[in-house]
This record gives sequence, structure tokens and C-alpha cells, in this order.
Amino acid sequence: MTSVNDLRSSFVDYFARNGHHAVASSPLVPRNDPTLMFTNSGMVQFKNTFTGVEKRPYSRATTAQKCVRAGGKHNDLDNVGFTARHHTFFEMLGNFSFGDYFKDHAIELAWNLLTKDWGLPKDKLMVTVYQDDDEALELWKKIAGLSEDRIVRLGAKSNFWQMGDTGPCGPCSEIFYDHGEHIWGGPPGSPEEDGDRWIEIWNLVFMQYEQHGDGSRNGLPHPSIDTGMGLERIAAVMQGVHDNYDIDLFKALIGAAAAATGADVNGEGNRSLRVIADHLRSMSFLIAEGVLPSNEGRGYVLRRIMRRAMRHATLLGANEPVIHKLVPTLVREMGQAYPELSRGEAMITETVLLEEGRFLKTLGRGLQLLAEETRDMGEGAVLAGASAFKLYDTYGFPLDLTQDALRSRGITVDQPGFDAAMAAQKAEARKSWSGSGEAATDTVWYGLADKLGPTEFLGYETETAEGEVKALLKDGKEVASLASGEEGFAVLNQTPFYGESGGQVGDTGLLTGEGLTATVSDTQKHHGVFAHKVVVTEGSLKLGQPVTLVVDHERRSSIRANHSATHLLHEALRIVLGDHVAQKGSMVSADRLRFDFVHTKPVTEQEMAEVEDIANAIVLQNTPVETRLMGVEEAKESGRARPVRRKVWR
Ligand code: ALA
Repeated sequence: MTSVNDLRSSFVDYFARNGHHAVASSPLVPRNDPTLMFTNSGMVQFKNTFTGVEKRPYSRATTAQKCVRAGGKHNDLDNVGFTARHHTFFEMLGNFSFGDYFKDHAIELAWNLLTKDWGLPKDKLMVTVYQDDDEALELWKKIAGLSEDRIVRLGAKSNFWQMGDTGPCGPCSEIFYDHGEHIWGGPPGSPEEDGDRWIEIWNLVFMQYEQHGDGSRNGLPHPSIDTGMGLERIAAVMQGVHDNYDIDLFKALIGAAAAATGADVNGEGNRSLRVIADHLRSMSFLIAEGVLPSNEGRGYVLRRIMRRAMRHATLLGANEPVIHKLVPTLVREMGQAYPELSRGEAMITETVLLEEGRFLKTLGRGLQLLAEETRDMGEGAVLAGASAFKLYDTYGFPLDLTQDALRSRGITVDQPGFDAAMAAQKAEARKSWSGSGEAATDTVWYGLADKLGPTEFLGYETETAEGEVKALLKDGKEVASLASGEEGFAVLNQTPFYGESGGQVGDTGLLTGEGLTATVSDTQKHHGVFAHKVVVTEGSLKLGQPVTLVVDHERRSSIRANHSATHLLHEALRIVLGDHVAQKGSMVSADRLRFDFVHTKPVTEQEMAEVEDIANAIVLQNTPVETRLMGVEEAKESGRARPVRRKVWR
């Protein structure tokens, strides 16, 4: 049997042998795209290479790319557990040509790998082409020797690929595999195409255009190639199973979930086991990258995934937190290919356990309420939006969790009613803000926090990223642009700049865009909104503009060093003066730090010297620093740090 791990390397090796540069997977949180929630395909990291903005030292590349499709244009969340082939997290194998080869060689490379290297029988394969792409049709006949009845012309819905609302795009050609008559389903384009018999295994995109936000499209500098093959799907084919969830990797994860919950793998709970196995992967990979469960943006998608997995664990009879216990199995299966999983194992486990604890407290009562509200409902009934909102607001049920819970009974939720209840609650909250007597400027920030939600902070992982300008302030008022020489505040959808909080000063750096340079002299955090204090030195800064943010690295490094030093100082003080030394306050900047604590008598010179020696000795060890996530209580108990994120030494 060819394992998932072997297949991954076999693919990359094949393309490397054929002149492709093997490139590592890029992060799930895209660094180069402010419009995309998660990396949804292999081409995302090459977006700017296709359009010619970014030059790379190679014109052919190959990757195994981690992807999440659980929000935005490509969203498979609702299909998980119901089909044999959908995932929220999956790996996409791909080969790319940046103005090098085009359709003919792309088809040749794909066909040879499938039928020669991997030995798939030709009569199990079928392809589709974009409806008027005669060229691709002829090439499939010529190169693969396929007869016309094995080539299907399809419209833009299936055979024109776009990453999102903007970005590189083009017509595509998909390769399908027939899992056999015993599985329900029909060939592409037939009424039964959604079944699991004929499965799309590989998509070859002939990248030719760039789509813009205003609906216009222009040609790319050079015709290019972007391909994507789902590793889990091809593994199913190569392992002789029709179901992705029966491949070696998923067997291991499902086996672990069954052992932890006591469920029977072949019994009724199989669907829940699949959901858990799938969601375990997306949550772990996202947490490994620093995404944390929250009520906004990426964090909320993560929370939805986590809570859904947790509900399925309770469906299997688990009353205790169990999902976090599955993390080691995942790390064993995938940690070699993705070292970030091994490095993050402790943090992933802690984050999942924390969320399990939080959610399990209310889950039972929420499910009870749901059961009561739907007791007399039959198939086709609709649950009131207000009830779904109560489940969300009081019991922490994301809407899609409620929908998922009712789906098997054929009950739906009144979504407009849910949205209206949510809007009404926000309006209420707004009223109480304006009446609370906060300073006028604070009202502005409250308003922005309400309108935009918190800024996504990327700074634990990177010091450079792209963001989109969401709001600009001048003299405390919102404006549409800041001209050269003007000073104000800029809010972006995401940022690597640390916003001043907890006594640590905010980052400084640069903000650049087309014809634009602005310096950032400070970053503050107001109700989750990161405010970059900017002076525009060239061009103008406009709403909606994509910009590149670069943190002043040297200054950040000094701040980070001083931040670490407060922990060392704290530890040294505890060793010398005793365990009662707790942090009362601190100030951390690039050039100094201050640490406040209470002690019953003055510290002697000798004690001070001892403290210095201990702290300096640890500094000289040059130990690597690891970021970990902790609950408030846990962090307090360890007595060293503020909640949420802290540094630990190993
Ligand atoms: N980018 C293409 C896809 O995701 C290959 O299907």
C-alpha cells in the first residue's frame, strides 16, 4: 500500500525530476493576501508570481500545500461527514509554471504521472475541459489518446477557476477517476455527478487572466499553469478504497477518536468520527499557526470547527474533554511532513483542552434547550431565529452547529431571523457605549470595533504582511484618505504590528503601497482594533487600499528581548526573595524595562547582585524561546505571566 506520506513525496519528487523547484507549503493564514481568509489552494503563495509583481529565481515549482476550505469562496464545512471526499483541511499537491510551459506539457506531465509512474488504468480516467477550449480537447486526444466520449465540455461553474473574487484565474481541465459501479454516482456533467463514484482527482488550471475587484479582467504577462490534486483523494485511489476516510492517515485518526470516545468505528457513530478526524486536522494546523478561537474572523471559523467536533464527541457518548487527547496521534501521522505540528503540540493540546472546558460547561444545557424547542417539530420545520440566537448568545452554539444538529431531522433554521436578533443585540450594545460617558475619541474606537470587528494580529508569526485599509482617522474623525504630509491613524483588517497593551509599547515601522510610503510611529490597541499612528511621506493612503506592513525589526527585537527579560527577572526574584513575588505591573520598551512587585522589606545589595547573576546566567544560556498559549488561571498559577500568550523556557 502506498501511504499518504509516500505519495506526497512521490509527487514532489516526480516534478522535481522534471525541472520543478520543490517549495515548502506556505502558511494557512496568507501573508500576501488581505482578501483571503485561509489559503485555499496551492497557487495562493504564487499569486503575485503569476501576475508578474513578484520575481522568483525559478519558473517551475511544485508543492504539497496545506489548505483550509471553511469560509469564503471555497467552503466545504457543511459537506464534511456527508460525503466521502470533502474536508475542511486537506493537502493540495500541485505543479506550477510561471510563463514556462503551458497546456500541452501540463497535460503530458499529469498524464504520465498518473498512468505511467503510478500505473492507473486509462479506462478508469475521464477528463473535462472548459466549454470552448478546443485546444485542450485536442491535446487530450493527442497526448493521452482519449476518445471524445471520455472528454466532457463543461461551463464556467466547474471549469473556470478563481482563487477568490480577485486574483489570477483561467479555464481549467479536470481529471476524474471512476471508483466503480458499486458506488452511486455519475460522470461529470451528468445528473448524478455529485455522487462518490466519479471523483475529480486533479485540476489543471490554464492561468491566463487576472480578475479585479471592479469586475474587470486583464491578461497575465505570460500564460501559466496552476494545478491541484487532493492528496487524500489520490491516496484513496492508490490504496484501493473509494472513501477518503478509509485511507491510512484517516484510519489512524478515526481509530484514535473511537478509542477515546468508546465508539464503534463501523457503527452508527461513524459520521461523527469522520467529522472529529477532519476537524482535528484543521483546528490543530490553525492553532499551530497562532490562530486562536474567538468570536470574530478567522478565530470564529476556528471556534465553529472546534465546537462542532466537540458536539460530535458528545454524540458518541463522551462527557469529558476528549478531542485534545487526539493531538498526539495527529502529530505522529503528520508531524514529520509538517514540523510546526510537532513544535506546537503542547500549545495545540492546551488550546483545545481550554476550549473543550469552556464549551462543555454550556453544551449540555444548550442541547437540552434545543431538544425542548424542537420536540414537536417534524421534517421540513423551521426553528425560530430567536431560538438559534439564544443558543449562540447564551450557550456558545455557532449557527452552523445548530444547523448541523438539526440536519438529520430535516429541520432548518430561520437565518434572517437569527441575523436580525444579532443585529438588534449589537444595536443595544452600541446604545450603552454612547451613554457610558467615555471620552469622545473612545466612542470613535468603539464604533470602529463594532463596525469592523477586532483586527487580526499576525505578529506572533511574522513581521511583514499585507493588509487592507479599513478605516482612516484624522483629528479623531473618519476620513477617506490621508494625503502626503498628513498625520492620522490607520486601521487594517490584519497586521503584524503589536498594539500597545499590558505595559508593552506598540511597534513602529513602515506601511507601503503603490506610490505610497507612510511611517508608523506607534501602534495602539483600542477594544481589539489596532490603530497605526501614521504620517504619509509619499503619495496618499486611501480606504480599501492593499498595503504592505513592515515592522521595525531591530526595535521589535529589543522589545522582545526586554519582554523576555521581565520573565527572567521575575523568576530570579522569586528564587532569591521567595515565592510571594508577584508581578504588580511592568513596562517594556526597546531600551528598558520596569518590573513592579511587593516585598515586605527593602532588597539588599547582596540580594540584588544575586538576582542579577541568576538572570544574566539564563540570558547567557541563549535558550530558544517558545510561544505557548495558556488559560488565565493556568498562567496565573504558574505565577509568571499575563494570560493568553507567554514565553516559556525549556
Ligand atoms: N487552483 C486550482 C484548484 O484549487 C488548481 O483547483
